[in-house]
Parts: sequence; C-alpha cells; structure tokens
Amino acid sequence: MDDRIFDEQTAQDWIKAVERSGKSFRDDYIYPKLNSLICKYSPQSILDIGCGQGICSEKINLKNVKYTGIEPSSFLLDRAKQLYVDKNFLIGNAYALPVSNCSFDIAFSILVFHLLSDIETAVTELSRVLSKNGHFLIVTANPDSYSAWEAMYSNKKLTGKKLEGTMQLGDALSHDILYLHTFNEFKKAFQSAGLEIEQTETFLTSKDSNQNLLILIQGRKSN
Ligand SMILES: C[S@@+](CC[C@H](N)C(=O)[O-])C[C@H]1O[C@@H](n2cnc3c(N)ncnc32)[C@H](O)[C@@H]1O
Repeated sequence: MDDRIFDEQTAQDWIKAVERSGKSFRDDYIYPKLNSLICKYSPQSILDIGCGQGICSEKINLKNVKYTGIEPSSFLLDRAKQLYVDKNFLIGNAYALPVSNCSFDIAFSILVFHLLSDIETAVTELSRVLSKNGHFLIVTANPDSYSAWEAMYSNKKLTGKKLEGTMQLGDALSHDILYLHTFNEFKKAFQSAGLEIEQTETFLTSKDSNQNLLILIQGRKSN
C-alpha cells in the first residue's frame, strides 16, 4: 500500500491551510455534523481516525467525552500534541488502529478515506474498534463528483484507481492523491464489516462544475 501519509512538506501545507483564519466549509458543515452526532448519542469515548493536527478536537463538544486522535504522520502528530496538550493522540494507521476492540462509542474520519487504497481493511478496523451500537461518520470525496475532482488536478496521472496530481492547498501547490472508489464499493465494505449506513449526504458544491465534492457517510455498528 502506498497511501498518502503526509510527508513533511504536505503536512506543513495542510497545517497552514487548516489553521489560517476565516470560516470554511468545515465550520459550516463538518463540525456541526460531528456536534449533532455527539449531542444525539452522548458518547463516552470518541476516536478521530487520521486526525491530522487535531483540529476537530478543538471544534467539537468534548465535555465528559474521552477523545483519541490517531495519525500516521509524525509531523502532524507533533503539531497536534503541541496544540492540544490535554488530548490523547497516538501514532497509528487506519489499517491497524492501535486501540482495543469495541472501545469507542463514536469513530469519525474526516478527509482521509479518499487517501486509502484499501477501504475494506480500514472499514473492518473501524468496525472492530466501535462498541456495540457504536456510531461512525466519514467525510470523503464524493464518488459522483470524480470528474470535478479530476478537473482540479494539474500534472495528473491515473494508475488503476489511483489519481494523482498537483492541486491548490491554501496558498501552496501540493501533490495530492485520490483513490477512485465507487459508492457501491464503499457500501459493500461497510456491509461486510457489519456497519449499517443510515445516512449519506453530499456537500461543498464546486463553482466550476456545480457538483458536490464531498460525501458524508454516517451509520452504526449493526451487530
Ligand atoms: C486531508 S488530511 C485530514 C486531517 C484531519 N482528519 C482533518 O480533517 O483535519 C488527511 C489525513 O489523513 C492521514 N492519513 C493518510 N493515510 C492514512 C492512513 N492510512 N491511516 C490514517 N490516516 C491517514 C494523513 O496523514 C492526514 O493527516
């Protein structure tokens, strides 16, 4: 697997892009969705898979909730630990989460799954760590808008399902990867891992193509 664990340059570009001031679609859409989930299910424990520099831990309501962020990039993990000293961050990968079975009431992953070549293994891990009737929320590239994503890349190259190229990330041009998994592949992966999809929603409309670039997939562990 040659997934896109951020190298130092990409990590620095990502940190700048996320931390620059101003409201973004994350404030308008992603954080409110996470907060509604927390409000609805009152979890005791939450897992953030591919947490980057831990920004979600600042934006969601963690009163009486134990938060754990897992991140494979040591650059982003160091930044997370520096920014949020009271939170729990672990080095780790979506394919082998360094936590016990059935230990989280909610697990979420924001803008990570499009970087994964093997969604089956990641979803099996997600299911393993969720408690009985635990809930999940994934935000990833919308499979119905891959043509719009493709149009945003320059110097692009397609190898099998792997699309790579350069795209604008904040003020920088960054090398980026997108695995073109179909929605049916996502559905099958969730189903075989014992996870029931309860809701999907697309959002973040591209001005150029009028397509919704992102999809939210939300549901629960069904066994
Ligand atoms: C676009 S950033 C999103 C970071 C964070 N979720 C957020 O929304 O602020 C993608 C993150 O996925 C992480 N990532 C890439 N491959 C991963 C994998 N196999 N397992 C876990 N995280 C991964 C990257 O290191 C990076 O932190």
